[in-house]
Amino acid sequence: MSGSGIGEDMLIPQASNSADKVDAAFTYILGIEVVLLTLVTSAMVFFVIRYRRKKKEKAENIEGSLFLEILWTVIPTLLVLGMFYIGWRSFDALRAVPKEVMVIKVTARQWSWLFGYENGKESDTLRVPLGRPVKMLITSADVIHSFYIPAFRIKEDCVPKMETYLWFTASEAGTYDIFCTEYCGLGHSGMVSQVVVMSEKDFDAWYGAAVTSVEKARGLKILEEKGCLGCHTTDGTGKAGPTFRGLYGSQVTVLTKGKERVIVADDDYLRRSILDPGADIVRGYQNIMPKLAVTPEEVQEIVTYLKTLK
Ligand code: CUA
Repeated sequence: MSGSGIGEDMLIPQASNSADKVDAAFTYILGIEVVLLTLVTSAMVFFVIRYRRKKKEKAENIEGSLFLEILWTVIPTLLVLGMFYIGWRSFDALRAVPKEVMVIKVTARQWSWLFGYENGKESDTLRVPLGRPVKMLITSADVIHSFYIPAFRIKEDCVPKMETYLWFTASEAGTYDIFCTEYCGLGHSGMVSQVVVMSEKDFDAWYGAAVTSVEKARGLKILEEKGCLGCHTTDGTGKAGPTFRGLYGSQVTVLTKGKERVIVADDDYLRRSILDPGADIVRGYQNIMPKLAVTPEEVQEIVTYLKTLK
């Protein structure tokens, strides 16, 4: 989305099969609220003026009205039943998964997303075909996160040791935001990714190619899988952690047990920083990196890859 005016830019596109139903429920409830707020406020203001003390009107005892009693019982009941119906309809559409679906596994972790496909392909960006139902099996590797795609109007908690699910059919090609909507630590606000909705043909080409070609350095693949790129970039910009670009061989000012020192980022330093993240904290950053489950071979692959980022 681009442009400068308020209005169209602020509307999130409806890019899935259930988006219009969710919006309908929201609009219906909001509409009732606006009408009720207007009526109640107007009546209140009217009575305050009409029966103000200065007029010295004498109070009258009213016995009751069967007609009014029925009216204000029936109307709210119908309104609320309407809310139930429209809410249930959109909820049902969100939970009833079709038989023929493509399954994608979602793993949330501090602070990145990992998407795993049926053919073994993994990615930190979600790619889905246009018009094909997709079921997401969701879990977390550490704390509770929440998986949210505003343009699809879907959201689900990511709970450790538990599998939750969502499904959708993307109805509009494009790239849309993915957010974490459960506060999960310092990097929460940076826990973003994107979903790319591709034509069936483009998707199949990407999906098929993934199995046969070795497209990326293994070290980079490990960094993606372990979620490192949620906090560290490879392009020279800083995030929650220092960038990897140009790191190897550079001079780094670190805090070691509270003492500042300047060291050269050599193999040992990189290895130590992966295995014991709290040992040397780079100046300007916080001690927030979680301990990773990595094998010595994986550490070696990462170090080898980092050396290439000149
Ligand atoms: Cu993950 Cu907030």
